[in-house]
Amino acid sequence: MALPTITIIGSGYVGVTSAAIFANAGYRVYALEINPERLSAIQKGQSFFYEEYINPLLHHAVESGSLIGTNSYKEAISQSDVVFSCVGTPDKPDGSSDLSYVMAAAKEAIEYAKPNSIYVQKSTVPVGTGAKIEDLLASQNKNIAYVSNPEFLREGSALIDSVWFDRVVVGGSNSEANKKVNDIYKHVALAREAIAMRAGIDADNIPKGLKNEYLTTTRSSAELIKVSANAFLALKISFANSIAKLADAAGADIVQVTEGIGSDPRIGRAFLNAGRGYGGGCFPKDVSGLISSGLEHGVELNIMQAASAENHSMPGYIIKKASRHIGDGTFANKRVAILGAAFKANTSDSRKSPAIKIANIMSEKMGAVVSIYDPKAFSEDGIYKELHSDILVCSTVVASLQDADMAIIATDWQEFRDMAPIDYAKHLKGTLIVDAMNCLDPDAVRQAGLKYIGVGR
Ligand code: UGA
Repeated sequence: MALPTITIIGSGYVGVTSAAIFANAGYRVYALEINPERLSAIQKGQSFFYEEYINPLLHHAVESGSLIGTNSYKEAISQSDVVFSCVGTPDKPDGSSDLSYVMAAAKEAIEYAKPNSIYVQKSTVPVGTGAKIEDLLASQNKNIAYVSNPEFLREGSALIDSVWFDRVVVGGSNSEANKKVNDIYKHVALAREAIAMRAGIDADNIPKGLKNEYLTTTRSSAELIKVSANAFLALKISFANSIAKLADAAGADIVQVTEGIGSDPRIGRAFLNAGRGYGGGCFPKDVSGLISSGLEHGVELNIMQAASAENHSMPGYIIKKASRHIGDGTFANKRVAILGAAFKANTSDSRKSPAIKIANIMSEKMGAVVSIYDPKAFSEDGIYKELHSDILVCSTVVASLQDADMAIIATDWQEFRDMAPIDYAKHLKGTLIVDAMNCLDPDAVRQAGLKYIGVGR
């Protein structure tokens, strides 16, 4: 039987990754993107952001004709059996989700949709969004099925997460449509070896022992699974950060504490790394979105309010801790090197990055002279709008460290982990290292003659 033709609306992180994978699993895929720069990148077989393994797959798919970039809804949707909406859902100033792109994409897609096709919502939306889209679909009388199919990939390991998935969640009332969407992922699973080869993924980097669960739920459950999964992980991080403050006050080491907590399989080690807190395009917005959804339904999610407040406090907490260890306790005219700007390692994405928050507080509020270096983040234009204009952007770690009184490791890139403490000592003018990611060995740093400040240690 012929494979369905797929359209992916939106070439953001989720859309580009999905398009690259489906097209390399043998599907004919339209990447529908209205932003001219993003579209032109896709048409050249490239992504506008840095993500390991994606470009070889995009390149192959575009060359072989299985991936077609277009800005025409008519061209893409009218030929597609399954349409995945991967458009952005930014947050509004009040923390709730801005659904204007999701609804606009659905409206336009429905106009050209084939009768009996399937409309899949993949980007994250608040619970209840699917009901609104279903109303739109029903108004057209084309028998279009709606499926909620949330994405669980992490930036920085997007391709591996999506191809070697631990679960696929599909929610909707049309069981035939649910099955067809599940079948697409089963087909991707069958193409794993070919995808690994084309992307150049080492066998060692391929996850083992996957459960590959296919969960079929109601539409609302699928929506809620997605945001609650992110909210729970954010909660774990904020829990670790609040215990880190206690560890600081009581003279314990949070790294040892979380190791001890996490070795209980009921708790698990993941997402208990204390540090400057979570950022990015997902956790901050999903936490505030969940709080808003709760309020809309008359449910106060105080636990998430607390997680969010804890997260907001971390950059200031770390700066305050550092201030007690630098000369007169102020940063006025002190030169500070910030290492890392992306919201996490292995991505160029700096949306809501706590590293940027630390850099801006230092520059704007603390009177420090700030330099910053990140291996990838400055390849995206958006960062320049976020960063305080007085901050000097450096192109190497050494350039950033030179003449600095202190360094703050704000994103745990491997490059910063790998740099020998003796080299930090050599290039830094001062002696203070603030490890806002707890990613260095404190003893090794001290042995190099530097002062080490971590978070909760
Ligand atoms: C997150 C989820 O992990 C994915 O499962 C989900 O699909 C994605 O959001 C999404 O909704 O699209 P992502 O935002 O790419 O993925 O990155 P994470 O690896 O989850 O990290 C989020 C933030 O938490 C980063 O700033 C990271 O530095 C921070 N973090 C993570 C910690 O501070 N401590 C930890 O222990 C782990």
